[in-house]
Amino acid sequence: MARRPGVGCLWLALSCVLFAAPVAANEATEPSSAEPSATELIEGLLSGRAPVGGPFELTDQTGHRRTDADFRGKLVVLYFGYTYCPDVCPTELQSISLALDRLGAAAQAVQPLFITVDPERDTPARLADFVSSFHPRLIGLTGSVAEIRKTAIAYRTFFAKQSNAAPGDYSVDHTGFIYLIGKDGQYQGFLPPGLAPDAIADAIRTRLQLD
Ligand code: NI
Repeated sequence: MARRPGVGCLWLALSCVLFAAPVAANEATEPSSAEPSATELIEGLLSGRAPVGGPFELTDQTGHRRTDADFRGKLVVLYFGYTYCPDVCPTELQSISLALDRLGAAAQAVQPLFITVDPERDTPARLADFVSSFHPRLIGLTGSVAEIRKTAIAYRTFFAKQSNAAPGDYSVDHTGFIYLIGKDGQYQGFLPPGLAPDAIADAIRTRLQLD
């Protein structure tokens, strides 16, 4: 039961993003900004009309540079979030980890990835502690702010810092879709936030059979 509020919060946050974004867009007066709005990112993903995914080069929790090509031959299960996330990210990563456990030996064909949307705080060392608390095969990826932004936008993930009361403290609003990337590196689709581990396992199993 303790998990439910977190999942609810996520949908609420997503709704807020959808409804709040047009106002924010009107307020934004910088003509040079080529960054897509939250609405554009989400609508493109949900409608299936926009391209999703593509090449990336980031740094893993051991400090090694990794590219999307490193994961060819595996079904990649990708989640964007941040280690300081109070409830939603841990819940989703726990669900993904349980789903992998339920797949048994078939999980060897799956590579779970966690890409931070908070690269300034999520160093490789911090990611190492975080990912190992969920699943031994979970790889955490961070990078420069520009690298993370480019990768998140490519996957049509929206994120934005929100200042908290304490000076220097902040949270990061972000969308929480789970992306499936085929063994050939091509984007296959997304899973909505808040799915139970069994549902995630079913989706992965189906995808593995199609691949
Ligand atoms: Ni989160």
